[in-house]
Amino acid sequence: MATKDVKDVKDVKDDTAVAAASESKLYTRAEVAKHADPKDTWIIIHNNVYDVTPFLNEHPGGEEVLLEQGGTDASEPFEDIGHSTDARQMMESYKIGELIEEERTGDSGKKDRDWSSGTNDEDNSSSWRSWLIPIALGVLATLVYRYFISAH
Ligand code: HEM
Repeated sequence: MATKDVKDVKDVKDDTAVAAASESKLYTRAEVAKHADPKDTWIIIHNNVYDVTPFLNEHPGGEEVLLEQGGTDASEPFEDIGHSTDARQMMESYKIGELIEEERTGDSGKKDRDWSSGTNDEDNSSSWRSWLIPIALGVLATLVYRYFISAH
C-alpha cells in the first residue's frame, strides 16, 4: 500500500516536470520573426510566444489582424482591443513558449499599472469633488448674508 502511494506521488511529479518543460521553451524575437506565414504564424504577447496558425480561421477578430501581426510583438494591439478574460484563457492553448530573458519587456505588469493609474484618476476626481461641497457652501453663505444685508 505504502509503495503504491509513493509511486502515485512520483507519477504526479513526472507530469508536472513535463508540463514545466514544455511551457518554458525559450525563443528569441528573431526566431519568432521567421514564422510570419499564413501556414505558420507565431506572435508574441506579453513575452509569451503563441503559434496561432490553427486559430487563424477561428479568431473572432478575423485572420487578417493576426496575419498582420505574424512574427511580431502584438502586445499593444492585443491590449488596445481590450480582449476578454475568455480570450486570455483561450490564448493559453496556443502558447508554445516564452521569450529569452534578455529580450523580454517589462510589460507583464502592465495590467497592474493600468489598474493603479485608474485608481489614481478616481482618487484625483474624488479629492476634487471633496473641495466642491465646501466651496458651494461658502458661495451659498455669502448669497444668504448679502440677501439679509440688502433686506434690512
Ligand atoms: C492568441 C491570441 C488571441 C486570441 C486567443 C484572441 C481571441 C479573441 C476573441 C475570443 C475575440 C472576441 C472578443 C473577446 O472575447 O475579447 C477577439 C476579438 C478580436 N481580436 Fe483577438 N485574439 C488574439 C489575438 C489578437 C491580436 C494579436 C489582435 C491584433 C490586432 C487581435 C484583434 C482582435 C480584434 C480586432 C477583435 C474584434 C474586436 C471586436 O469585434 O470588437 N486579436 N479575439
